Order: sequence, then structure tokens, then C-alpha cells
Amino acid sequence: MILVTGGAGFIGSNFVLDWLAVGDEPIVNLDLLTYAGNLENLSSIDDDPRHTFVRGDIGDSKLVAELLHKYTPRAVINFAAESHVDRSIHSPEDFIQTNVVGTFHFLESVRAYWSALDDQSKSGFRFLHVSTDEVYGTLGDKDPAFTETTPYAPNSPYSASKAASDHLVRAYHHTYGLPVLTTNCSNNYGPYHFPEKLIPLCLLNAMAGKPLPIYGDGQQVRDWLFVKDHCSAIRSVLSDGRVGETYNVGGWNEKANLDVVNTLCEILDKLKPRADGVSYKAQITFVKDRPGHDRRYAIDATKIERELGWKPQETFETGIAKTVAWYLENQPWVSNVVSGEYRQWLNKQYS
Ligand code: NAD
Ligand code: TYD
Repeated sequence: MILVTGGAGFIGSNFVLDWLAVGDEPIVNLDLLTYAGNLENLSSIDDDPRHTFVRGDIGDSKLVAELLHKYTPRAVINFAAESHVDRSIHSPEDFIQTNVVGTFHFLESVRAYWSALDDQSKSGFRFLHVSTDEVYGTLGDKDPAFTETTPYAPNSPYSASKAASDHLVRAYHHTYGLPVLTTNCSNNYGPYHFPEKLIPLCLLNAMAGKPLPIYGDGQQVRDWLFVKDHCSAIRSVLSDGRVGETYNVGGWNEKANLDVVNTLCEILDKLKPRADGVSYKAQITFVKDRPGHDRRYAIDATKIERELGWKPQETFETGIAKTVAWYLENQPWVSNVVSGEYRQWLNKQYS
């Protein structure tokens, strides 16, 4: 079996659902259930004996040691993190705590477990660390896209904390021989995306008749990848990636934020037109820019395609259409997230 951390968050929950859909290997899911963790994402596998959920912190060495001892996973995938740049600007400490200190304790726990394995299990074991393209910093309009050899230059407390965790993972390979793999992926979007991030926030605000806030001039560029493509990339790296290597993962979909939000509005105009017949674009509002806002991210995903044969299946157009349709079809999920009702459910379930 495998152990994932952060599997109740956006990408982690998509990964768990896809993992069980494409194979039969059981999965243990360790998640602290912070504000970003939502067990409702996993409600379709409530009764699936292949999935074991454990609420806990990656930095809780005792708990992690117990889990590793009990379930003897052949691999761990570390999704758990504080992940929102704007929150990292307001309260960086949580990011240092989970992304840096938490990852360090987690690495230590896994190293102790891995060291005691027999030779065959030891060489087959993998520690896959899920990271971001934001560690590379920002690009100018004409700069080439980030490759795996682009120097790290993180600009926000979030990206700095992820960069620190990537360096620790790298060091555990070089110093102790832990068989690690790291993926650096671009901006994801898709089902179960928490509505603090640009795409789900604007989708929900549009439908609620609220402003669609665009930071600065809206010309900041991100590469966008449909979350299920990220999940397939992680499966590919886990099974065939070369130990100690890092792989950039991206969608070859560079878009300016304003274009992303305009596209969202156009899809909604077709699928759920406003009662007054006016386009949702009328709700777009330019607001104060994010401090230190990175201007452009772009991913060169040639290495993962050349070495592992991985390519995204969705274009931005197909992926965003699926995403809008999912949010329209999953109104109960949306209202529970927005109302905070799912938090009450958690307290009831776990208190
Ligand atoms: P998310 O914020 O939606 O989910 C994070 C999950 O981790 C939550 O379920 C949360 O409860 C859990 N968690 C937080 N602290 C924890 C701790 N100390 N112990 C155990 N669990 C904890 O994040 P996401 O968007 O799903 O991102 C997952 C990973 O992918 C992160 O490492 C992030 O840096 C990386 N990533 C995200 C994107 C993106 O566009 N969202 C892109 C590239 C890489
Ligand atoms: P976000 O979804 O927070 O992801 P990240 O900061 O990790 O790239 O933001 C994506 C882009 O959208 C980023 O350039 C910031 C911008 N943005 C807005 O313009 N308005 C918003 O309300 C949010 C949340 C983000």
C-alpha cells in the first residue's frame, strides 16, 4: 500500500479518488484537516475498504512512526502543505511550521522507517514530494520557461517554504540515500478546488452576483493544468521516475489572469446566463495588487514527456469546461464549503 499526506485537500483528494479508480492498491491518507482539508471530497469512497483515513499532522513523529509501522507502505506521497500565497503573506508562520518544520519531521520519520527495511524493500521504496513551479520565482515576458535546472528564487513566504522543503528532500537523498522524487507543478484547477484560489473564487462569486476581484492589471501569467493530469503525472513519476530526480509538470497553457476570468465568464454566460442577460464579465473588478506578485510562471515539461512519456490529456478549454460543469453540478459541496458547514460536521465526527 501507499501512504499519502494531505489527501483531503484539493489535489490530494483528486489523487486518492483517481488512484482507487485506476488500480486496487490500498491507500492510507494522513491529513490534519486544516481549513483546506475537506472529507466531503472523499465521500464517494466512504465505504471503500481500500482507503484508510487518519487525522493527524505530518510533523507528529510518534503518529507517523506508528502508521508506517502498522501499514508498511512501499511509498509515501507528500501533498500536505499550507498552499495559499495570500494567506502566506498575512500569516507566514503556519507555512514555516507545516511546509518546513513539518516536512523535516516527516522526512525523519520516513528515514527511520526506511532504514530498517530489508534491502529489497529499501531499494523499491519511494518518497515522492509534491512541489510547485513557484520555487523558481518570476519570469519576464520573453524569458524561457522554467526547466528542472532553473535556479530556485522563491519570492513569497509560500514559495520560500516550499523551496526549503524541496531542499530538505534533496538533502535526504544525497546525505542518507532516501529514494526521493520531486515534482514541481504549475497552477492546478478542477473539481474540489477550495474557493480561495482564483478560478473557484471567481466561479462562485460570479454565480453569487459578487465582484470578480482581479489583482493589479490582471496581466500576470500562470500555466494552468487540469488537476487530473497532475495526478496522472504523479503516478507516472512514482512508477517510473529516476530516484533523486525532479520533474517539472505543466499544461503548456500560459494564460493571463484576466483571460482566465473572461473565459470563465463566457462559459457561464452559455451554461447559466444571468437573469438580466448581461455577461458575467460586468462583475470583473480590479483591486489592489498582491504584494510581491510574481508576474509570470511558465513550465517546460519536456523532461517528463521525454523520460516518462507523460503528457496532459486536457487543453485549458476542455479542462475549464469540465471544471465549470462540475461546480454547477455539485452545488451541495459548494454551499457546504462556503457556509463552513463542513467544519461543523468535522467537529461532530471527530470531537
Ligand atoms: P490544499 O491547501 O488544498 O490541501 C492541503 C492539504 O494538506 C489539506 O487537506 C490540509 O488539511 C492538509 N494539511 C495541511 N497541513 C498539514 C499537516 N501539518 N499535516 C497533515 N496534513 C496537513 O493544497 P493543494 O492545492 O491540494 O496542494 C497540495 C500540494 O501540491 C501542496 O504541497 C502544494 O504546495 C502543491 N501544489 C499545489 C498546486 C496548486 O495549484 N494548488 C500546484 C503545484 C503544487
Ligand atoms: P492563486 O489561485 O492564488 O494561485 P497562485 O498565487 O498560487 O498562482 O492565484 C492565481 C493568480 O490569480 C495569481 O496571479 C493571483 C491572481 N488572483 C487574482 O487576481 N485575484 C484573486 O482574487 C486571487 C485569489 C488570485
